[in-house]
Amino acid sequence: AGTGKFFVGGNWKCNGTKDSISKLVSDLNNAKLEADVDVVVAPPFVYIDQVKGSITDRIEISAQNSWVGKGGAFTGEISVEQLKDLGCKWVILGHSERRHIIGEKDDFIGKKAAYALSEGLGVIACVGELLEEREAGKTFDVCYQQLKAFADAVPSWDNIVIAYEPVWAIGTGKVATPQQAQEVHVAVRDWLKNNVSAEVASKIRIIYGGSVNGGNCAELAKQEDIDGFLVGGASLKGPEFATIVNSAT
Ligand code: G3P
Repeated sequence: AGTGKFFVGGNWKCNGTKDSISKLVSDLNNAKLEADVDVVVAPPFVYIDQVKGSITDRIEISAQNSWVGKGGAFTGEISVEQLKDLGCKWVILGHSERRHIIGEKDDFIGKKAAYALSEGLGVIACVGELLEEREAGKTFDVCYQQLKAFADAVPSWDNIVIAYEPVWAIGTGKVATPQQAQEVHVAVRDWLKNNVSAEVASKIRIIYGGSVNGGNCAELAKQEDIDGFLVGGASLKGPEFATIVNSAT
């Protein structure tokens, strides 16, 4: 972990029912979470209101996506204004599942980030390479291109956390080694230094996502440039998520 406040997000993805989420929230409310960590959970849209109404104020709420502009005639979409109305503080954008399953493109993701920031939401901006891109030696280039799309669109990085999530590590149980993650985090920081500013590069939090669990989080958290985690599967278990939140201390 580096200098910024450790940040751990739980991305619940498209999981849960009213009952299972009520149990998860109660486990999180009862968990002992270290004070010096930002803790955020991202429930499916339809359960945000339930979670916000029952979870401790210690934990902030993120959405898993948002519409690119003001609401209106956009069937099936959820606006940033609606997310704020429900008490969301954050939104995850550019997640690999939205890039590669839904087909969202860099410039569209950049526009979403700019709009969410302009309305006061924090953005968890995701980048990461596919397995074939890593094997072709293109990991840094892919991350740089995704970073550039955010950089071209956003006026400021003050309210952004970057999540490096190698696609081959997501939901596969194949976690990146601490060295593999650290190497990309350093590259991301260098890119920001060279293309945005030294100040942004040194202050921004770069969190790792991809098969993080209660067993591997402590080693990852020791790395200088890993400032937290974005957790999928293991965030659906309250006690394990608490272990990950507390892994930096
Ligand atoms: O956004 C978090 C994520 O994509 C990682 O998922 O299940 O590998 O922890 P998982």
